[in-house]
Amino acid sequence: MAAQAKTSGFQYRGVNHVALVCRDMAETVDFYENVLEMPLVKSIGLGGRGQHFFFDCGNGATIAFFWFPDPPPFAPGVASQPLDIAKDGMMSAIASMNHLAIDIPAETFDAAVARLRGKGVECFVINHSDGADPAPSEPTAETWVRSVYFTDPNGIKMEFAAFTRPFTDSDILVDPVTEAGVPVPRRRKVPEMAR
Ligand SMILES: [Fe+2]
Repeated sequence: MAAQAKTSGFQYRGVNHVALVCRDMAETVDFYENVLEMPLVKSIGLGGRGQHFFFDCGNGATIAFFWFPDPPPFAPGVASQPLDIAKDGMMSAIASMNHLAIDIPAETFDAAVARLRGKGVECFVINHSDGADPAPSEPTAETWVRSVYFTDPNGIKMEFAAFTRPFTDSDILVDPVTEAGVPVPRRRKVPEMAR
């Protein structure tokens, strides 16, 4: 992706962290460090109120986890994607975290899938593409992102995603809809935005 070259307005550098909730911090540390190979870079105790741990997921970004002693129950299909999306679809509630995608280089995609499978992680690949076939079994010239999907020990739906090319104006394919599903034209009011 091209770096944002801006001298005014908000200066973004990507995601700092996403904060998730685990059921078992020891199990979560084992999965993120030993399976996904994301080093633990910060761990703090919250007294009697739990723990907060951060894993490095590249480029200065982190995945953070809370462990709470008595949290609300796991709620797939509400707080996160259903566990079986083939059977139950992929919807989750407004303001939920549907799934978490970590960026990987496209040239490492096939090796990353093999590495996940070699570690016993169940996963499936989608080559998201424009054109007649939205998900060809192999990437084509119309593939814009390659994705491999899997689930962490907490039931969190995850993805390794590799963009295959820079975005252009022709990637903006549809107008946004309102709460009622009515399309409305998008009106930009900040001319210095990069795209
Ligand atoms: Fe995604």
